[in-house]
Amino acid sequence: MKGIVNTWLECVHCGKQYDLEQVRYNCECGGILDVKRDLSKIDGKKLKQLWESRWGMKRGPLSSGVWRYKELILDVAEEYIVTRQEGNTRLYPAGKAAEYAGIRNFLLKHEGENPTGSFKDRGMTCGATAAKIYDATSVACASTGNTSASMASYAAISGMKSIIFIPEGKIAYGKLAQALAFGGITLQIKGNFDDGMELVQEVCAKLNIYLLNSINPFRIEGQKAIGYEILQQLDWEVPDWFVIPGGNLGNNSALSKGLQELYELGIISKIPRIAVIQAEGSNPLARMWKNKTGYVPLKNPDTIATAIKIGNPVSWEKAMRGLEWCNGVVEDVTEQEIMDAKAMVDAAGIGAEPASCCSVAGAKKLVDMGIISPDAKVVGILTGNILKDPDAVVGYHKDTLRDMGIKGVYANKPHVIEPTLEAVKAAISGK
Ligand code: F0G
Repeated sequence: MKGIVNTWLECVHCGKQYDLEQVRYNCECGGILDVKRDLSKIDGKKLKQLWESRWGMKRGPLSSGVWRYKELILDVAEEYIVTRQEGNTRLYPAGKAAEYAGIRNFLLKHEGENPTGSFKDRGMTCGATAAKIYDATSVACASTGNTSASMASYAAISGMKSIIFIPEGKIAYGKLAQALAFGGITLQIKGNFDDGMELVQEVCAKLNIYLLNSINPFRIEGQKAIGYEILQQLDWEVPDWFVIPGGNLGNNSALSKGLQELYELGIISKIPRIAVIQAEGSNPLARMWKNKTGYVPLKNPDTIATAIKIGNPVSWEKAMRGLEWCNGVVEDVTEQEIMDAKAMVDAAGIGAEPASCCSVAGAKKLVDMGIISPDAKVVGILTGNILKDPDAVVGYHKDTLRDMGIKGVYANKPHVIEPTLEAVKAAISGK
């Protein structure tokens, strides 16, 4: 495959291997696939030096916060790379959100600072590059909004047609706006995300369209760079915990896979723990984890965090494998907990969309439960930009979400006033 060596696909379920010559998302047994490479052929020490030498590059594909790590992402010639210089996102002290969660050393990695406003760009740069390598001219995905916004953008910059399946009326406006603006053919299906996911797989198989959901193993490879970049920002000092929201479960699978590779290469020598946080109404992994049952999809998932309103996540098996490796945990949080945590992330001056704030809500809950120590070094991943879902923000602060069972506990209500000095004085003095 266009000069890529030492790389193959391997089934997560049965271990069967495939070369990269043909497009594949599933094994013959139905299991999903990992990109694998023989790590014994890579010198970890030299690799770390190479990555350090690229830090701060100003131009070209290797200035991207994904392609900086290309040896463990997709070792392809630079001419094939479809990039918007994604990544290079900031790692903030959590401020008010740290106080709220009760963690002294709490950092927030803001993936909402990516080109289209979510972490999806890290996976998409790699997926779109794979699409080009396979000579695809059309790409498709089912999405709760962010994947579609990202895919439409990367398709636009690389001259591919993008076809998007979204649940009708259930995606945040900022995301729908992006999909339309970037020229995606947008199909609002009468069903939920899980229905869309099933349909898009059939469509891609029958119409020879390249599938860019996280079932695509190259997407996961790109998303590993979130972990790589955090560690590089921390001078390779490994935190005790990563806390990350879980929907279709690709992102936490990518995080653990990436960390495991660094550990095997000796680039890190400690295994951090990962906490995956789901919304209580969309929690198939949390149920499976807590009840110690087999995997059972959830029929009618629901949550204000529409990004993660998913009942049948495609990557649950990868997620479980990663959690077992790092002694991770899964927890779920209520609608109120998500929106109160979001109010704190927003009031800290950082801001993120509702699903992202599961990280902070979950971190707080795990501290309260005695699972995360207040002295632990914790990194929360904020997955999407605050502007993706302005309705949720304004609804909370105007306290109009009560029919969804959410109170504006930390609401910063707008003041409607007469245009007089007296009225301004009264409003700003808090009367
Ligand atoms: N946070 C945000 C903002 C998301 O958009 C998503 C997923 C997640 C968290 C969960 O990540 O699926 O890898 O577990 N959004 C997908 C989409 C499903 O279509 O945009 P995950």
